[in-house]
Amino acid sequence: MQIHQDLIETATLELKSIKSEAEFFQLRSKFLGKKSFVISAFSELKSLNSKQRVATAKELNVLKNKLIKLFEDFQKDFNDLVSQVKLDVSLPAEPYFLGSEHPITRISDKVIEYFLPLNYQVFSGNEIETDFYNFEALNFPLNHPARQMHDTFYLDSKSRDEYLLRTHTSNTQIHAMLNEPLPLYMLSPGRVYRCDSDNTHLPMFTQIEGLVVDEDVTFGDLKGVIIDFLENFFNEKMEVRFRPSYFPFTEPSVEVDIKFGKKGWLEIIGCGMVHPNVLKGCNINVRKYRGFAFGMGIERLAMLYYGVEDIRDFYSSNLDFLNQFPS
Ligand code: DAH
Repeated sequence: MQIHQDLIETATLELKSIKSEAEFFQLRSKFLGKKSFVISAFSELKSLNSKQRVATAKELNVLKNKLIKLFEDFQKDFNDLVSQVKLDVSLPAEPYFLGSEHPITRISDKVIEYFLPLNYQVFSGNEIETDFYNFEALNFPLNHPARQMHDTFYLDSKSRDEYLLRTHTSNTQIHAMLNEPLPLYMLSPGRVYRCDSDNTHLPMFTQIEGLVVDEDVTFGDLKGVIIDFLENFFNEKMEVRFRPSYFPFTEPSVEVDIKFGKKGWLEIIGCGMVHPNVLKGCNINVRKYRGFAFGMGIERLAMLYYGVEDIRDFYSSNLDFLNQFPS
């Protein structure tokens, strides 16, 4: 029926000029409310004979359903629009859970946190390194047995220098001494690699290197900083032992042990006074400057700090393990 078609077209047209929710409901009641054409037409059906009644009721139902659908569709689009308008992009974003920091990252940051106020700069070093930076400049002469202690992964290389995966973070000492002005206070965390694997050793692990080159630094300064660091880190008075040891790049060299409850003495840091050969190799005037250096394994610190028994847990990607360190 033409009148029905016109009604739908008028409703469609009038809906286009709607500006508010109130206007929408007014219009809806005009077309579908009690006094609307469709609804009042239903009440007039009784005046028709039964044949006409059935036919008209059918048409009216079709019209009513079309109008209902028209208004429903409009309302849906209108709501979407309103919710977009209500979106205030200047509000702070809803918090979104991205996981938590890995325990090794946390321990590494915890070490850095102690040294930053002492004006140590943080350097990131190379994981792929030449023999020069990993060994030679650190006073490991070619064929020196100390090289054997490192179980090095060598990379296939056709270049003149042989490339390797660094076995310790001490390589950053050389880069820093060759490139940075003195006095130098530096820290360098990062991954290191050795061909070794059991429940306390991994082929890839993390170390933090520290180096100070300044006038008049002494072994006493080194001891002071190490003891104070350990007591800050574990937040308690510690029994600390400096045990003579050997590293080619320090003289004297010591290993630092701490007394750790039932576990007894545990080796935790290697350190010493920078060997004059190393300083000289980096063009540092050994009459004016002296240095001390230290290096520690982050996994070892993390195992003690968190009470983890198996180093492999840190890298097993096991969420049951990692979720025990929420942010
Ligand atoms: N690089 C040594 C290692 O991986 C640790 C170390 C010992 C670093 C003495 C130092 C140091 O800076 O002075 O076993």
